[in-house]
Amino acid sequence: MKVDILLGLQWGDEGKGKVVDLITPDYDVIARFQGGANAGHSLVFGSIKHVLHLIPSGIFHPDKVNIIGNGVVLDPVTFREEIQDLRNLGVEPTQNLFISNKTNLILPTHRLLDAALEAKKGKTKIGSTLRGIGPAYTDKTGRNNLRIQDIFTADFEEKFQQLTHTHLELLHLYQSDKIDQLEKMNQEWFSALATLKEFTFIDCEYEVYQYLKAGKRILAEGAQGTLLDVDFGAYPFVTSSNTIAAGALTGLGFAPQHTGKVLGIAKAYCTRVGNGPFPTELFDETGNLLREKGAEFGATTGRPRRCGWLDLVALKYAVMINGVTDLILTKADVLSYFDTINVCTSYKVGGQITQRIPADNNAVIEPQYTVLKGWKEDITPLTSYDQFPAALKDYIAFIEKETDVKIAIISVGPDRAQSIKR
Ligand code: GDP
Ligand code: IMO
Ligand code: MG
Repeated sequence: MKVDILLGLQWGDEGKGKVVDLITPDYDVIARFQGGANAGHSLVFGSIKHVLHLIPSGIFHPDKVNIIGNGVVLDPVTFREEIQDLRNLGVEPTQNLFISNKTNLILPTHRLLDAALEAKKGKTKIGSTLRGIGPAYTDKTGRNNLRIQDIFTADFEEKFQQLTHTHLELLHLYQSDKIDQLEKMNQEWFSALATLKEFTFIDCEYEVYQYLKAGKRILAEGAQGTLLDVDFGAYPFVTSSNTIAAGALTGLGFAPQHTGKVLGIAKAYCTRVGNGPFPTELFDETGNLLREKGAEFGATTGRPRRCGWLDLVALKYAVMINGVTDLILTKADVLSYFDTINVCTSYKVGGQITQRIPADNNAVIEPQYTVLKGWKEDITPLTSYDQFPAALKDYIAFIEKETDVKIAIISVGPDRAQSIKR
């Protein structure tokens, strides 16, 4: 038995939440392997639209095990909010949500540091979601952070105070204007631990191994997207974790030979929220139409997403680095409004045509487009591939030919039901 890995192939918000929820019936265990509440994974079924941030997108299936892996960073305050939101919908997750005891914690001062560091960067800011992600991972690799298992040690409060004290020195140095909020934030944080303690903490790596030995099917759920990977994205305009397939192995603790399929989710066009290179970005009416028809506003921060045409240079890079075995194309319905659809098939950099993403973020990239025919037809009610207009089939075939990977699912609307498996 293997662990299948599902992840985003662009800059996040590809529709991972929707797809995980859709395919959860095929699995026994759904496990988040990195990121934190910077993620916003939307699920729509029936009359419910729900956004998950930290909790795996299999949580609406009560018979499935959901795991928050060691690679995740967890803020007890946002965790409590999410649990409360689920309870308000009648979902009680204490019996089927398990958390690795090696999961790192996000402290209130991590959030303040995130804000202070971004403010200090000024024009060069990354556009962080300000959830404390960067500072928490910094403390993880710096070997300073607190983990779930520390909560149960006698000197936990002392360790908390020590780390907070170090952060406070930095916050003073950065002239943070929010230090006066800290006492209240800390009180809230400690009170939120009570909700966290209602859950069962596990040795994630042992559990995953036991599940595999017992023949259980596991799906690893990624957050963010390949182009936000801390190593392979356009650094520093990235998040602070490995969002690529390799991150699933370290984020849950399984061996390379236990990797199964790699399911890569790509939007039929591109969006990005936050700063950094985006070669196919559109600043015109076409971009606005994509944003409007695709409802491209951040699920976590509400920020308008930057929009542009599909970038096959970037997509092929993502397919390569993740070893994608199956592609899943989402939001095809959003392209129904265009007479013609552009697809970037190469870049021109310094007068040269290239298939590579330049390592230098300042390189001027001129995207080279192939123009395909639009289908100009509402595809949201369609239920099978056979019903697809010819131009959409051509669009799908073009992507498959360029990436050399089959598109296994095409999503034609936000609802779980609006998904066509081939
Ligand atoms: P994630 O972070 O990858 O889970 O994606 P988000 O939830 O942040 O953003 C995807 C948005 O697109 C959400 O609002 C989804 O409900 C919506 N969505 C997902 N698939 C489709 C689709 O095929 N068509 C349309 N129109 N919306 C979709
Ligand atoms: P999901 O899982 C889109 C972006 C932020 C910012 C950069 C760093 O919903 O796809 P961070 O808060 O990690 O310090 O922000 O990464 N970002 C995302 N963009 N979707 C996400 O998650 C994102 N999580 C972080 O906008 O540019
Ligand atoms: Mg999202």
